[in-house]
Amino acid sequence: MCLIKYFYLVQILVLAHAQNPPPPYGQLQIKGRFVEDSHGNVVQLRGMSLMASDYLSEWFNETAIYQTKCNWNSNIIRFGQMPSTPCCGGWNNTKDRDYMRMVNAVNACIKHGIYAIVDWHAFDDPQIDLAKDFFANMSKTFSGQ
Ligand SMILES: *[C@@H]1O[C@H](CO)[C@@H](O)[C@H](O)[C@H]1NC(C)=O
Ligand SMILES: *[C@@H]1O[C@H](CO)[C@@H](O)[C@H](O)[C@H]1NC(C)=O
Ligand SMILES: *[C@@H]1O[C@H](CO)[C@@H](O)[C@H](O)[C@H]1NC(C)=O
Repeated sequence: MCLIKYFYLVQILVLAHAQNPPPPYGQLQIKGRFVEDSHGNVVQLRGMSLMASDYLSEWFNETAIYQTKCNWNSNIIRFGQMPSTPCCGGWNNTKDRDYMRMVNAVNACIKHGIYAIVDWHAFDDPQIDLAKDFFANMSKTFSGQ
């Protein structure tokens, strides 16, 4: 739900105990080469990639995600996780920090009713063992959501 600024405070009070808005197409499913909504209708998702939190951590926040939804009409955002980067961290180096960034970002998507792609952002070497650890963690963390 996109709130008009002037009603924001009022809405916060009204919605304080309301449930999160559902994502626009319910539970998605893959059929062949198509993405379908929960009723089997083919849907098209539109959104942004916010690269990886090591590099663009300032975008992994609720305000940016909310604005991406409401100002740019996105219904999906992709968040990448690097295995390791000499400059800035990665799952191997700053796991706890990156985990919190990812959790905050995905929870903001859930709160505002849009989809999130949790992705592994590796270049030459995919770092399979680290990737397995990452996806095992993410699938347990967001199980059922
Ligand atoms: C959230 O992201 C936007 C866009 O990068 C930035 O302007 C804002 O300062 C960020 N807020 C926080 C709390 O990091
Ligand atoms: C992960 O960290 C360990 C210990 O710091 C290091 O030995 C290893 O080379 C790192 N792996 C990658 C893929 O960066
Ligand atoms: C995922 O990793 C974080 C950061 O290390 C950790 O706190 C959390 O317990 C892990 N969750 C699971 C389900 O493995």
